[in-house]
Parts: sequence; C-alpha cells; structure tokens
Amino acid sequence: MSTLVVVGAQWGDEGKGKVIDFLAQKADVVVRYQGGNNAGHTVKVGEEVYKLHLIPSGILYENTLCVVGNGVVIDPEVILQEIKHLNDRGIDTSNLKISDRCHVIMPYHSTMDELEEERKGRSQIGTTKRGIGPCYMDKTERVGIRICDFMDEDIFKEKLAANLEIKNAVLQKIYKKEPIDFERTYKAYRHYAEELRPYVADTTVVLSNAIKEGRKILFEGAQGTLLDNDFGTYPYVTSSHPVSGGACTGSGVGPTCIDGVVGVVKAYTTRVGKGPFPTELTDELGDMMRERGYEFGTTTGRPRRCGWLDAVVVRYAVRINGLDGIAITKLDILDSFEKIKICVGYEYEGKVITDFPASLKVLEKCKPVYEEMDGWMEDISGITSYQDLPDNARKYLQRIEEVCGVYISIVSVGPGRKQTMILKDLI
Ligand code: GDP
Ligand code: IMO
Ligand code: MG
Repeated sequence: MSTLVVVGAQWGDEGKGKVIDFLAQKADVVVRYQGGNNAGHTVKVGEEVYKLHLIPSGILYENTLCVVGNGVVIDPEVILQEIKHLNDRGIDTSNLKISDRCHVIMPYHSTMDELEEERKGRSQIGTTKRGIGPCYMDKTERVGIRICDFMDEDIFKEKLAANLEIKNAVLQKIYKKEPIDFERTYKAYRHYAEELRPYVADTTVVLSNAIKEGRKILFEGAQGTLLDNDFGTYPYVTSSHPVSGGACTGSGVGPTCIDGVVGVVKAYTTRVGKGPFPTELTDELGDMMRERGYEFGTTTGRPRRCGWLDAVVVRYAVRINGLDGIAITKLDILDSFEKIKICVGYEYEGKVITDFPASLKVLEKCKPVYEEMDGWMEDISGITSYQDLPDNARKYLQRIEEVCGVYISIVSVGPGRKQTMILKDLI
C-alpha cells in the first residue's frame, strides 16, 4: 500500500505515535489531519523519549516529509516551542510543512475552553483546556483565523479586532473576566507568524505531487474513534474527526487516493476525561493497569481511567473506519494478570446488544458481557516473533480477531521500535 491511514480505535492514547514512528521507517510522508495540541503522541527511540503534540510522528526520520494538514488547529506558540525542543535535541525540522488552511488557536480560545469547563461544573467534558473546541467552533462559525490570514498583516489585524470585540464582550459580561488586550496580542502573534512563515505551504499541492510520484504516505490520526465529533460518545468527545474519513477532509486528499486503513487498539481500554466507559475498572485491577501501563495523560498528566478490552467498541471502529487491520499495543501490560476479560456484548434491558449505541442514556444502562481467558503470566516484552509468544497470549490475540472481525497486522509488546511484530506488511 502506498497511502495508509492510521487511526485510534478507542478513546485515544492507543499508541498511535509508536505505531506511526515504526511504520514511518518505510514512509516518505507523514500527515496529521485533525486535532491540535490536545494530542500527545509518545515515541521512544533507544533511550530517548519524544512527546509530540502537533508535529507528525515521522519527524524523527531525517528524510521524511511531515505535513500538518488543513484539518489541524494550530497554537502558534506551542508549535514553535515544539520545533525548538526538537531542534535543541538535534532533530531537523526543515522537512515540516504546515497547511495555509489550518485554523489558528488564539489566546481567547484556551481561555474560553477553561472558563466553559469551569462553568459546566459537574457536567464538564474534561477537555485538555487547549482551546481546541472554541477554535473549531470559530471555524464552523466562519470567523476563524486561518494560517493564510495570519500571515497577512492587514487581514490578521482586521480579523483579530473583529474577534476580540465579541470575545471580550463575552469574557466581561458572561464570565466577569478581564478583556484580552488587542495591541499586546497583535504584537506577540505577528512575531509568531513570521517565525512560522518558512513552514507554511499549500499542502494539498505537496500531497497531490507526492501521490503522483507514488510516494508512501501515512496519515496520522490523533484522538480516537470514540472521541470523534460524530461517532464518539457525544458530547464527551473532541471537536474534530479522528475517524479515517477525516483524513480526506483534513488533508485535501480524495478518498480514491487512500489505499488502506489500520486501527490502533490497546490490549485493554483507557480513557481520559469524562464520559461513559462500559468496561471501566474502578478496583485494584484498574489501578494495576494504570501502574503497569503508566497510564497518565501525555498532554495533561491526568490519570487515565482503565478497563478491559471492549470488543463492541473495536467492532464499531472497524465498521466506521473501514479498518483493513489492527495494531495491538501494550500487550505486555497484561503480563501479570492471571485472568483476562474481553467484553463481547452489552446487556441492555434483558437483551444482549453488539452494536455500539448512539444514546448515552442507553449506553449508561449497558452492562458488559465478558468472556474470561487465562493470562500468560510471563514477561513478553523481549519477544520479537509471534510464534514465540506464550500460548495464552496467542489465544487472546486470536480471540480478539474473532470477536472484533478484523485481522491483527501488528503486535506491540513495548514502547521501543524493536518491540514490534509484523504479522502483515502494511506499507
Ligand atoms: P498515542 O496518543 O496514541 O500516541 O499514545 P500515547 O503516546 O499518549 O500513549 C501510549 C503510551 O504507551 C506511550 O507512553 C508509549 O510509549 C507507550 N507504548 C506504546 N506501545 C507500547 C507497548 O506495546 N507496550 C508498552 N509497555 N508501552 C507502549
Ligand atoms: P491522543 O492523540 C486521549 C479527550 C479529552 C476530553 C475530550 C475533549 O494523544 O490520543 P478536547 O481538549 O479535545 O476538547 O477534549 O477528548 N482527548 C484525548 N484523550 N487522547 C487524546 O489525544 C485526546 N485529545 C483529547 O481528555 O475527554
Ligand atoms: Mg496520547
């Protein structure tokens, strides 16, 4: 396959960064297509650990072109810091291209995100407070500032003034807060614009040329299917489209140019922030998963909620994304569990349902129906071939394939590049 979309099949943090970095060994281009610095993708190379928020996880390869597509929202200060951090660690970022159609996260977006979460109190979403939702709101409202507008001194001035007029009125009247100063913001952001200018391009042309030349392209999803604005557990979702369809609208590449889609699935389930989570474990088993898997948010440091693998969720992700295969990550974290459970359906009003429901009212009443399997109780983090995995680990993987209705293409047993088994070549 020449073009492959990699999506999160659960609630994010499935290990997309690790999988992308691994697959990027063979790729020419890696493209982020949605989200912003709410994402935190961790890549481990040798003893070095990189936490990427906006820059595609292909950046660690010298010759890989990294594209931030139009569907991404960009906080200029954050991306500039990320570039600097990478440069300071000897990573070249001259191969980075940022779409001139990306929307810019402005300080009022992050402020509003925070204030709105505070106002919602107990019914808050548990956002990352990075201004993601408010920025996408402005995009759909048609008042947002795109990178191409941001690069133009006059247009930026005009749009900033128009936005601040209304945002400041809301800040003062609704939230009883201080207004945001025009001059100070304009000056700081003009400076960021000039620093970003060398990276800005019409990335639709860059990608179209790469496709014509037969280059291998990876599309890197952020967040996950269950956080998608349409298909996730709405309203406990993000404001973009992490699903595979988002790769087209978020990068300007037509569906006929996509050759395959792979979903990243953690061997158990985690979720950060609020919202339904049928297989959540609030007991010591959940604590064990969190501790063994070091399940703390890459972006916010919040403890992640943990639970058993939910095959209803993964099956749903297979359908919504049209998955050709899945990459199972963090199998090693289950090494010391004597018994392992898979949720194969939900019991709802005396019946078993197997399709993920839209209504949260229904979902809240769903009780997981589990199958229990024996664990393998040995360290698998050094195993490099599928055949060498313990019998019970292979049985678990085979059962995942059966109940999720999808083939496993990759198995990951550690954060490092070498801790990866390929069952089927993807790119
Ligand atoms: P992403 O947002 O989907 O890229 O995932 P995160 O980076 O937020 O979280 C995944 C975490 O698990 C990171 O710290 C990775 O280094 C780590 N990781 C990925 N795959 C594996 C694996 O197979 N085993 C272990 N132990 N850690 C892994
Ligand atoms: P990666 O790419 C896990 C969650 C937040 C919150 C909801 C909305 O690392 O997998 P937002 O700030 O986007 O408005 O928050 O979405 N969320 C993530 N959870 N991984 C992520 O990204 C996430 N990005 C957002 O915790 O529940
Ligand atoms: Mg993450």
